[in-house]
Amino acid sequence: MPRLLIITSTTRPGRAGTDIAAWARDLAHAHGAFDVEVADLAEIDLPFLDEPEHAGSGVYAHDHTRAWSAIVDRADAFLILTAEYNRGITAPLKNAMDYLYREWNDKPVGFLAYGMSSSGLRAAEMASQIAVALAMVPVGVVPLSLRQLRDTGLAPHHEDSLRELLDGLARYSGVLAALRADSQPLEQVA
Ligand SMILES: Cc1cc2nc3c(=O)[nH]c(=O)nc-3n(C[C@H](O)[C@H](O)[C@H](O)COP(=O)(O)O)c2cc1C
Repeated sequence: MPRLLIITSTTRPGRAGTDIAAWARDLAHAHGAFDVEVADLAEIDLPFLDEPEHAGSGVYAHDHTRAWSAIVDRADAFLILTAEYNRGITAPLKNAMDYLYREWNDKPVGFLAYGMSSSGLRAAEMASQIAVALAMVPVGVVPLSLRQLRDTGLAPHHEDSLRELLDGLARYSGVLAALRADSQPLEQVA
């Protein structure tokens, strides 16, 4: 079965990301198309990028990079939680994406966006641009308004939307796994 990696993007104490990741994990388990793993960037605790070589080389000097590489490499699809900080993605998420290259390539990614005024959509758009630079295939985004969650909680349409996104990830993960098996890795275009 393909493996889905759910990646949190925030690290602060008391963050909403913990509950949202748990909801997404449970729904993805029940969806049934994937083995599901959660990568919590607070636990993974990467320092700011400290590798001397470019990520595209795959030459890593540090154990923390090799550990992060192994987690991302074994995934066939990603669901990235994009919290919105100052109209963009969070620093820990950008840092975690910058650390690697080949491990992301030719894999589908969906975004579970959350925030206040724009439900995290501006962050998801930014993350999608970065994902393209890493030769990932963005499949879609599910936006969550924290105001609405606070006032009325999660609604059935949120679950439906996330299921549809998981359907899309499953569809592309098969095609892209075949592509990865049949082709040479990409050179990084900077
Ligand atoms: C530093 C910071 C900047 C924020 N900037 C925005 C923003 O630009 N747009 C928005 O909709 N929400 C913004 N928020 C609200 C967050 O989206 C909201 O607090 C969310 O819960 C953050 O995710 P977290 O709880 O997992 O850290 C900001 C929050 C923080 C802490």
